[in-house]
Amino acid sequence: MSYASFCSLFLLAFLVSFISYAQQQDPTYIYHTCPNATTYSKYSSYSTNLKSLLISLSSNSGSSSSGFYSTAAGQTPDVVFGLFLCRGDVSQEVCRECVVFAAKDTLNLCPNERTVTLYYDECMLRYSDGNILMDFSMNGGIILFNPLNFTSNQQDRFIDLVLSTMNQLATEASNSSRRFHARKANFSALQNLYGLAQCTPDLTSQECLECLQLSINQLPTDKIGGRLIVPSCSSRYELYLFYNETAIGRPQLQLDSAPPPVFENTGKGGNSSVIILAVVVPVTAVFLLFVAVFVFRAKRKKTVYEMEPLAEGGKLPFL
Ligand SMILES: *[C@@H]1O[C@H](CO)[C@@H](O)[C@H](O)[C@H]1NC(C)=O
Ligand SMILES: *[C@@H]1O[C@H](CO)[C@@H](O)[C@H](O)[C@H]1NC(C)=O
Ligand SMILES: *[C@@H]1O[C@H](CO)[C@@H](O)[C@H](O)[C@H]1NC(C)=O
Ligand SMILES: *[C@@H]1O[C@H](CO)[C@@H](O)[C@H](O)[C@H]1NC(C)=O
Ligand SMILES: *[C@@H]1O[C@H](CO)[C@@H](O)[C@H](O)[C@H]1NC(C)=O
Repeated sequence: MSYASFCSLFLLAFLVSFISYAQQQDPTYIYHTCPNATTYSKYSSYSTNLKSLLISLSSNSGSSSSGFYSTAAGQTPDVVFGLFLCRGDVSQEVCRECVVFAAKDTLNLCPNERTVTLYYDECMLRYSDGNILMDFSMNGGIILFNPLNFTSNQQDRFIDLVLSTMNQLATEASNSSRRFHARKANFSALQNLYGLAQCTPDLTSQECLECLQLSINQLPTDKIGGRLIVPSCSSRYELYLFYNETAIGRPQLQLDSAPPPVFENTGKGGNSSVIILAVVVPVTAVFLLFVAVFVFRAKRKKTVYEMEPLAEGGKLPFL
């Protein structure tokens, strides 16, 4: 191997590890609720049970293929019920990082509170002294909207598309065993609408559908993006791709054959593959550098969402 290609490989390895390091980050906090009504004291059995619950949730978060896990710790009257749900498109690794982070974060955000729900972009963590397993709850939560208004004479068509796409998603998500689905729809030749719907998988199909349909009716549709998140379900739409499309499932039109391999070492062409490597590797490295710069710039320009908390202990206005 020539010196140049060795250097290029080294640079490439450095860039790849740098990018993966840069991408590892704390989950994106959205909102939390911990009503002050019921607290526990520091050395109580509830405190001990809560700690073992959080350990149990954390340690199961890397192995749950559904991204959902619920359990309880301790004996009545000090039993703690808890669960986590990761967004349907995140990897097990991202799920684990989010749940582990949330389990620590809760002791800062809600110290001494018995009933807590924490929402992040990547996961939700919830625990209570009441039984929240198999619990249908739209109690408390948050509406988020992208502050940009939809300004176009096509607004009616946009609202129709948001509602039809989200209602279709509600059916698809509630019919799937994971209670999750995401899809895109054509708004114009240049713009797609992206939507996502998810329930905790302990809901029945009917409960999930109900939760999503009630949520969709409350989504702000005069904005270019909106979310409604309650303990049992969440729904979101945007004019940009906000979920990992390849993790959703194969698009209908996928090529059956893989592209031919570039580095085919047939013995005879040994030298030519080294030359290809020496050319391709630096080009790839420069390309990755551009990607890295792009990723950082994209992160800095994050949209600040406006929020409208749903009344804790109250209900959605129309219920
Ligand atoms: C929560 O409860 C604690 C102790 O009862 C009290 O000191 C604190 O002011 C309360 N906080 C709120 C926001 O009500
Ligand atoms: C969006 O529209 C509302 C009502 O039409 C208006 O009050 C608000 O200022 C607009 N926001 C922006 C960012 O243009
Ligand atoms: C969802 O399931 C229901 C009942 O099993 C069925 O009637 C309906 O057609 C299904 N919808 C979709 C989109 O698969
Ligand atoms: C999406 O838009 C393109 C261009 O306007 C159109 O050709 C295509 O049929 C549309 N696809 C769907 C699923 O509506
Ligand atoms: C998206 O999902 C695919 C399949 O699960 C995974 O291989 C890929 O790393 C994910 N991409 C991101 C940016 O998380």
